[in-house]
Amino acid sequence: MKQIKKALIPAAGLGTRFLPATKALAKEMLPIIDIPTLQYQVKEAVDSGIEEIILIISEAKEDIKKHFARNEEYEQYLIEKGKPEYAECIKNIATMAKISYVYQYEQKGLGHAVLCAKEAVGDEPFVIILGDDLIINENGLPVSKQMIDIYNETGCSVIGCQQVAPENVNKYGIMALKGELNNRRAILKDMVEKPDLDKAPSRLACLGRYLLTPGIFKELENTKPGKGGEIQLTDAIKSLALKEDVIVYDFIGRRYDVGDKYGFVEATIDFALKRDDMKDKVLAHIKELLENK
Ligand code: UTP
Repeated sequence: MKQIKKALIPAAGLGTRFLPATKALAKEMLPIIDIPTLQYQVKEAVDSGIEEIILIISEAKEDIKKHFARNEEYEQYLIEKGKPEYAECIKNIATMAKISYVYQYEQKGLGHAVLCAKEAVGDEPFVIILGDDLIINENGLPVSKQMIDIYNETGCSVIGCQQVAPENVNKYGIMALKGELNNRRAILKDMVEKPDLDKAPSRLACLGRYLLTPGIFKELENTKPGKGGEIQLTDAIKSLALKEDVIVYDFIGRRYDVGDKYGFVEATIDFALKRDDMKDKVLAHIKELLENK
């Protein structure tokens, strides 16, 4: 069985939900305090044992490349200015992973973005990490690693899911299962895109993590553009599930929807409250706000 060595991080979308911030800045570079969301995704891949990260970007997103490139001149400047910890910090960003880039020249959807990386991935299973879903499993395995472990056991594609609140099922791709979840897993029967609650087959939503066998590329090539002329990854996964078992996995971790403004604020507050350099001040501020309410 082929090992999982590569992760794809699609980051070529337009990010319209975050306009005007994303007019000139990549959505993936918006920071949770001082770390761009994309850096968290790269770290998740590295912490999961991934050897090569393929970032899918557009021509408008060169700032991403700059962030992950080494800048020895700047490192030297920081050292001379007596800030060696910052020099180390920016060096680590550039050396933490082997990153390559693939361009998606037209924004024709997530499925199309993944298809753009066909050659870069090759004939190997791989992980997809979406930047909008920041998933933290403190003191436990990163979500991608949880999924890699399931692949190593079964050889199957794995879709990362979690239960969402009833009022949110119409925002996600919802899973229909063959049988019940057992040991947090089940075989995928079908996926329904953004169903009304009364038509939803479950409350298990696909939340930005996929582990796919290379068979997905053939399905993507045969997938006709759907809604908005976009090639949907979901449609290709549904076709794949007709040919091979695809596992639905209810992952362990706290997920933040940082592609959404409220989710972004939630993550910012929670992350600040976890930091020794900020916790007390932020907590005092929140208490003050509540007292004056
Ligand atoms: P989204 O549906 O969140 O699209 O894509 P978006 O353009 O980034 O955001 P909004 O909805 O306009 O605010 C999910 C993921 O797929 C990538 C995005 O970068 C994001 O990580 N994507 C989407 C691409 O790489 N290419 C595409 O054509 C579409």
